[in-house]
Amino acid sequence: MARLRPPSAHGFGTRAIRTATAPPLVDQLPTSVPIYQSATFGSADSAELGDILADRRAGFAYSRIDNPTAAALAEAVAGLEGAEAAFAFGSGMAAIHGAVVPFLGAGDRIVSTSAVYGSTRTLFGRVLSRFGVQTTFVDPTDLDATEAALAGGARILYLETISNPTIVVADLTALTELGHRHGALVVVDNTFASPYLCRPAELGVDLVVESATKWLGGHSDVVAGVVSGSRELIADVRAMQIDIGSIVAPFSAFLVLRGLATLHVRMDRHSSSALTIARYLEGQAEVKDVFYPGLASHPQALVAQRLLRSGGGMLAFDLADRRVASSFLDALAIPPRTASLGAVQTICVHPPSTTHRQLDDADLVAAGIRPGLVRVSVGLEDVEDLIADLGAGLAAARSAVHV
Ligand SMILES: Cc1ncc(COP(=O)(O)O)c(C=O)c1O
Repeated sequence: MARLRPPSAHGFGTRAIRTATAPPLVDQLPTSVPIYQSATFGSADSAELGDILADRRAGFAYSRIDNPTAAALAEAVAGLEGAEAAFAFGSGMAAIHGAVVPFLGAGDRIVSTSAVYGSTRTLFGRVLSRFGVQTTFVDPTDLDATEAALAGGARILYLETISNPTIVVADLTALTELGHRHGALVVVDNTFASPYLCRPAELGVDLVVESATKWLGGHSDVVAGVVSGSRELIADVRAMQIDIGSIVAPFSAFLVLRGLATLHVRMDRHSSSALTIARYLEGQAEVKDVFYPGLASHPQALVAQRLLRSGGGMLAFDLADRRVASSFLDALAIPPRTASLGAVQTICVHPPSTTHRQLDDADLVAAGIRPGLVRVSVGLEDVEDLIADLGAGLAAARSAVHV
């Protein structure tokens, strides 16, 4: 219940500011996390403010440093990841940057899986390299090559649980052991899997990144990211972000929290529809290879069975070439023409011209991304409708092959 504030003898302007900015005093707990849309938080006295800002005392002072809605999101994700702590960022890329930069200096090296999200590849290969950090890209299914790269000395081993866009499933148990044996911090982007399918922190991974824009938020209405890990590592992540300023906005944190509450229900349905679609695509003449962790034909099917609760909502398949892939995509009626993933809507993309456009032809080959690759984020529409639409796309692809 909101309590009336005592009348003030001040002038209109002073009263307007004081009454318009006084939060209601509420005795009952709300049943959703409030959006603490405030840049600043008042302390009882200047000593308390100093203590909070200096981290000598828990509390909130300034929303670039900490905000209650952002903290609620971080705590919720840490719990779901099975990690001690987390920090929530304004985007998945800010989270990736926030997870690696605190642990790097000029002269250090990252060993990264070659098939990573395009902007991650650019961040490592073109941005961090300007500051003296080199990255060696390896095939994570080749443990010997990964070990050889690590043996050269690496500060970070960077992986994706399920790679974007090739759907390679990393053996996180073996790779984490390898990384730790060579003294590297193991950082895993778990975006394609989500903590419902896989919890890398429980497998010994040091830091887990999620682009919360995708499955965690789930509705294509927010951009955010989260890094989870031990209390000690997250303290380092947080300490650096204070000076970089990439914390999540309160409204964005609220939207992700709302999505999180239904993550399990959505992921079950995304997974079952994706499996149905993957099986359908396997039987189509125009489709060369189908990559879906829930298929027995997946190259890492056994790893997927061991590490993932289900196959998830992401799959990819190869058409003849770039032109045929475009004909397929342009004939689809249900998916919006967009390039994200992890949403209620099905989203189909041609990675070489969208999500991985930063890669030149040599990089695409090295990452295993073929010219006709199509990536599908399976949404929550009726699966029969999706299959009919994909069928229309494949008919267009067939005509394009025969032109
Ligand atoms: C696997 C993966 N990680 C990270 C990101 C970056 O996330 P955001 O767009 O929220 O910055 C993306 C974006 O597509 C992604 O696919």
